[in-house]
Amino acid sequence: MTESIVRLRPEILALPAYKQGSSIEGGFKLSSNENPFEPLPGVLEAVAAASETLHRYPNAAAPELTARLAELHGVATDQVILGAGSVSVLVQLVQAAAGAGDEVLYSWRSFEAYPWMPTLTGATSVKVANDEHHRHDLAAMAAAITDRTRVAIVCSPNNPTSTVVTEAEFASFMASVPADLLVILDEAYAEFVTDPDAVVGPPLLATYPNLVVLRTFSKAYGLAGLRIGYGLGPAAILNAARTTAIPLGITDQSQAAALASLDHQPELLARVAHLAKRRDEVWEALVAQGWNVPKPQGNFVWLPTGEATAAAAALYAANGMVVRPFHPEGLRISIAEEESVEKLLEVSAELVATLQKSPRISNMPAPQPIS
Ligand SMILES: Cc1ncc(COP(=O)(O)O)c(C=O)c1O
Repeated sequence: MTESIVRLRPEILALPAYKQGSSIEGGFKLSSNENPFEPLPGVLEAVAAASETLHRYPNAAAPELTARLAELHGVATDQVILGAGSVSVLVQLVQAAAGAGDEVLYSWRSFEAYPWMPTLTGATSVKVANDEHHRHDLAAMAAAITDRTRVAIVCSPNNPTSTVVTEAEFASFMASVPADLLVILDEAYAEFVTDPDAVVGPPLLATYPNLVVLRTFSKAYGLAGLRIGYGLGPAAILNAARTTAIPLGITDQSQAAALASLDHQPELLARVAHLAKRRDEVWEALVAQGWNVPKPQGNFVWLPTGEATAAAAALYAANGMVVRPFHPEGLRISIAEEESVEKLLEVSAELVATLQKSPRISNMPAPQPIS
């Protein structure tokens, strides 16, 4: 790497760059939790129409989409904040709440963007390990709160382990945190959840004045390429986050696509149900093969491959599938095209048989399904 002659922040230079899931020519990309379905009907036409004024700046205040989302979730329009992906809203919230010397608390392993955000603002990450079932340990998170903690992030379903926080667990967490602590409930995969006990953020906003819920159009809605996501929460918190935004970050095309997608809820729900069913079938097949895999609730599964993670990812790649390795913990594999499933299960069967012969390498406990 070439060195800069100007003085740059050492903590920024030390940060690993965000690593995007890679693709494979002629193979399956199972590394970015994308939606395998093409955009919903009407979306491409709406984007084309919005592109006619491409020479103008967008109306980044997005009044129509904001009103639509407020109506959908039963909140006021000033309780909605839009961003270029929900990750933008997350960064804005952390910038608004946590500065130098403050702490940002989250479960780990979780979304790769979390460690990067506090560093940008001069704050410190406090990571609390997931429990042995790859779930948030909310009691340990509550215990890790100090008078420097400014933000606590709860991710449900958790990326990459695909486990959820229950409504009861979330309620007891909220009851145990200081009332002036910003809690962000990141629900990027909410639409895929089928567990009736899982927490659902928007209805809780009326109860907790320190809660912000994040949602996105990137996953279930299949608009990852357009970068549009949003937060719901108290106006005073969102207004502070609005002031940290890079101006005019929300394009007219992304707004038009989101609105067109919202017009097609029945098709959307049918696609989501299809993917959730495929996910459950994959999970059942993996468990039957001997994998000890937590029951997934996002559009992805987590294979705890331990020290064998890098080699396991290479095996999938050699068979035409790019998965997301988090060495030495495990692999995250997205639920994708129907044609990917057979190959995925074939390679997984080969892999689990190898790992069970050497459990020391994989960290894999003796096979026993988690229900
Ligand atoms: C847990 C979680 N939150 C937020 C995001 C950001 O999504 P986007 O910025 O595309 O809305 C992702 C994307 O992978 C994610 O996994």
